[in-house]
Amino acid sequence: MSQAPSERWKPVRLAAKVIGHVSQGMYRTPAGAIKELVSNAYDAGATYIKIHTGFPTFGEFTCEDDGSGIHPNEFTRLMMGGIGDSKKQSSRESRVGRFDRPIIGRLGVGLLSLAQICSEFKIVSYHKASRKAFAASIRFPAYTRKDVDSAIKKAAKSGEKFIETGQYSLKPIKYVEGQTGVTITTTFVREAFRKTMGNLAHFGNLRFNKTNRSYAHFGEFLDSISNPELSALFFLSPYDQFLFGLGLAAPLPYPETDGQTRSTCVLSVPGVVKLQKTLKSYNFSLEVDNVSFRRPVVLPSNKLGTRTDQCELSGSPVSETFKLVDGPHESEQKVLKYVVKVDNSDEKYQLLWLSYEARVNGYPMKFSGYVFNQTTRLFPKEYQGILVRLRNIAIGQYDPNFLVYPQAEGPRFSMVSSEIFVEEGLDDSLKVDRDGFNTLDPQYIRLQAYIHGLLHDIVFPSIWEEEKPRNERRRAARRRSNMKRFAKNVSRITKTKIKKVKVVSGSTAEDENVAEVDTRSGTVFINSDKAESSGVFGRKKFNGIAQQVIAAFEIAVCEPTVEKRREVFYQLLRGVFE
Ligand SMILES: Nc1ncnc2c1ncn2[C@@H]1O[C@H](COP(=O)(O)OP(=O)(O)OP(=O)(O)O)[C@@H](O)[C@H]1O
Ligand SMILES: [Mg+2]
Repeated sequence: MSQAPSERWKPVRLAAKVIGHVSQGMYRTPAGAIKELVSNAYDAGATYIKIHTGFPTFGEFTCEDDGSGIHPNEFTRLMMGGIGDSKKQSSRESRVGRFDRPIIGRLGVGLLSLAQICSEFKIVSYHKASRKAFAASIRFPAYTRKDVDSAIKKAAKSGEKFIETGQYSLKPIKYVEGQTGVTITTTFVREAFRKTMGNLAHFGNLRFNKTNRSYAHFGEFLDSISNPELSALFFLSPYDQFLFGLGLAAPLPYPETDGQTRSTCVLSVPGVVKLQKTLKSYNFSLEVDNVSFRRPVVLPSNKLGTRTDQCELSGSPVSETFKLVDGPHESEQKVLKYVVKVDNSDEKYQLLWLSYEARVNGYPMKFSGYVFNQTTRLFPKEYQGILVRLRNIAIGQYDPNFLVYPQAEGPRFSMVSSEIFVEEGLDDSLKVDRDGFNTLDPQYIRLQAYIHGLLHDIVFPSIWEEEKPRNERRRAARRRSNMKRFAKNVSRITKTKIKKVKVVSGSTAEDENVAEVDTRSGTVFINSDKAESSGVFGRKKFNGIAQQVIAAFEIAVCEPTVEKRREVFYQLLRGVFE
């Protein structure tokens, strides 16, 4: 460490074209950056990656995997301009890794994401195949927008293919028999990362379990983030958000009932059961601060705290069709619809299983997935929307705009949660930061058209349909309780006893009033066909209020003096709008 840089340190050469990538990638969230390390371990055939964030001070960040390790020559190649030139996926065979995992890496820029978290890191690698090991250190400058712009200018001017930015040093170490994998230790964690993560004022464990120790197990974390008191993860600490983002992004199976974790209702759909089996067969685990992670998806997730075990999925699905319209391309698509019944409730949730396969823009495209909806808002908010996964890695977070759904659906957007599993295609629509898609890519546009068609033709109409009778029942109950309150006010303020207000129609004698108070039956009759009342009952929504206002007026005019009439009317009116 104490030697002069010139003696041991060599410059890191970045292919000039990479600088542009870096500039796009540098605004990633901590989870987005660390997900690259998880992907690399997974690609290297590791059965685990163990991450230590340095909680609660976040002064040192480490990760360790038991993958293939890196050959020292490959590492040197990377440092000598090989960044941005991934050798993964160069052939058909290399697209599938150990345990039949679909390989994630394509570009060769993932490692650079570490530059966002630290200015210097150490990497120790044991490469089992060659029985070679090395320890290296890398120093990265902070890639600010200004640095990147000036580097691009410089490279363009001189026509250079490489840019020297940062330094690295490498020394071989003795290979230890049986040892395999990579360990990364960050020695200089960036101030911004440390400060952001170190803000634990809203740490979930502190808020819900009154302790500031880190989560003891995954169930504890899951309970915190799906606590019905929490409207959005935004209100928890950046550390909670980091854990959620990383767990969501990683190629992990869903939680299962095993005492500590619980399963999610979507698991019982055959499509997800099959996916779960595949995910488990990848034999990959992620540990963060000694907590073994699963996919942190909890559905349903509402304010009432409705649990998975209160939901029952209808055994046999029905097939439904919708129209997929993508420019001149039109086709009919089928999805499977399952009804989810909720114990002791008139609510009915819905789960759709979808799959699609076609050639788009000359290349194959294949995806499957589910769209789940409940009858009220999903909490925390971060489950609302659609999450697209490429080779099991999440691209960004749930998108609450549903790939820019063009129509207004009000609160119904917030009741829907969906995951789309892309098996083939969309690679070229992926942005370099792997947090989003190029929205002009034909395959992305096809996916978008599919989702929009499905939401428009099936999902939203069935939510409306499901809501209608329940909303009608709730409105009727509200009307009844309002009327009760009104009647109570009337008997408190005047001596008149009434039970209800009734709207009648039909022509009556000219001299009859709009309303009559029938004290015997305790009913105020309002005639909606009189000239005075015409148009008052035009909007169904306001009928209840209109009735009470008219009744208040008619009751008030029965009072003997002008002052008394005015007093009673305003008192009754106050009760109406209370
Ligand atoms: N944990 C690891 N185990 C073994 N090899 C690794 C590990 N991390 C990185 N590598 C090697 O370093 C290379 C660069 O990693 P990097 O993430 O930058 O690129 P990539 O994975 O090839 O592509 P992408 O940018 O799409 O992730 C990899 O191709 C791999 O050879
Ligand atoms: Mg990678």
